[in-house]
Amino acid sequence: MDPLPHVIIFPFPAQGHVNSMLKLAHLLSLSNFDVTFLVTVDTHDRLLNHTDVLSRFGTGFHLQALPHGISMDGVNTRDGISMLYYSLNTIAKPFLREFIPNSSVTCLIVDGILSMAADVAEEINLPIIYFRTVSASSFWSYFCIPELIQAGELPLKENAKDLTLTKVKGMEDFLRGRDLPSFCQASDLTNPDFRIVMTDTRQTPRARGLILNTFEDLEGPILSQIRMVCLNVYTIGAVHAHLKAKLATKSTSSNSLWQEDESCMSWLDTQPPKSVIYVSFGSVAGLTKEELLEFWYGLVNSEQKFLWVMRPDLIIGHERKDEILVELEQGTKARGYMADWVPHEKVLAHRAIGGFLTHSGWNSTLESIVEGVPMICWPRFADQQVNSRFVGEVWKMGLDIKDTCDRDIIAISIRALMEKRNGEFSQRTEHMASLAKKAVNEGGSSYINLDRLIQDIRSMIPPHKHT
Ligand code: UDX
Repeated sequence: MDPLPHVIIFPFPAQGHVNSMLKLAHLLSLSNFDVTFLVTVDTHDRLLNHTDVLSRFGTGFHLQALPHGISMDGVNTRDGISMLYYSLNTIAKPFLREFIPNSSVTCLIVDGILSMAADVAEEINLPIIYFRTVSASSFWSYFCIPELIQAGELPLKENAKDLTLTKVKGMEDFLRGRDLPSFCQASDLTNPDFRIVMTDTRQTPRARGLILNTFEDLEGPILSQIRMVCLNVYTIGAVHAHLKAKLATKSTSSNSLWQEDESCMSWLDTQPPKSVIYVSFGSVAGLTKEELLEFWYGLVNSEQKFLWVMRPDLIIGHERKDEILVELEQGTKARGYMADWVPHEKVLAHRAIGGFLTHSGWNSTLESIVEGVPMICWPRFADQQVNSRFVGEVWKMGLDIKDTCDRDIIAISIRALMEKRNGEFSQRTEHMASLAKKAVNEGGSSYINLDRLIQDIRSMIPPHKHT
């Protein structure tokens, strides 16, 4: 009998990364792979507490915690990312050196921003494949940073934020300075977060392949650019839709690191079709109290129904329940519903949802596209600035309101999305949703690419393991 491939999957320890890489783990398990999924102690405990992760997979799945001392706590603070990378280098790297040789591993699938794992794989001559959880477009804009610096377009000049950039090939017509990933907008290019993301991205071609959570019909022109430098790209997305297609189910199990509040679903059940705007800023982004109030007034003044994910740590430095103004409270009681954390995919798929006010994280964006829900984009950091530009300017599936935070703009945008321009945005989003579904079903581009990935990993099993 042929031996089973064994892959170690190692995501960056944030919700968005864990979510999509766990979906890949599930897809590989369905093809009879043994999978070890490496996470921080905190993520390990949260997954066990809030999901059915162990029962969902067969016996070939192993959830492995890294040693203590690596944490996402403080990642939103100054130097937070550098501190996290310091602990990954000093704790995770030596752990991998010990762990991998004792695990009879076929291949390592590592988050593309964890190059310390590639160092270890190379030391022991183990094949490695990268997974970037961001869009192809934002990956490509990170990749082109050295060319932007060489052309003098980085660091960005304050008065040049609206000028288009010339050195991100394939985006010359529409990518402005303000649409670059947030790390690239630093005035000081010695900034450690900027250096980490630049160097880690640039070394991508050292891996045997690059997996992207996207599909050809969505990002084809940019994928052609990427394929000039990374010869082996597997577009297998949207992974959540792919998993649903393979399991022939309407919704997949949650990978939430927080307890989901299901009560919002009953509230949605009582609302008319396409009448509710869903509001979520993802798992990491925070708002100042001033920003929170602008959004709150904007939502209430728009006079639309809304469902808002108000994470307990959403407001930077404040308790959420601090001094809520009476008029906001009344407006929320009349038209709104708030929850700490929700079953996001199910919410977006609900017939009552007509629009999504989002921070443009890539998972959120893909989940919205797959359900045909138009978006208002208010990006915060990292890849989100690029994603929102594509939604607003390239795919024209919604409005990009980056770098503004004004209750009137918010209210006007919500009304435009939900009423005045809903037809045009919905038409485009629904068309892309049908292409997304085609991609993951038999014969589709993502379906074929996942098959190719599976075959390629099987072929990495050393000959002496076959009997
Ligand atoms: C960040 C980046 O912004 C993102 O682009 C990158 O790919 C991963 O890191 P995050 O800010 O958390 O991620 O956003 P996003 O990618 O949208 O991921 C959030 C995830 O949390 C989504 O998969 C969403 O389904 C889930 N979610 C969100 C819930 O399950 N419940 C909620 O209430 C809100």
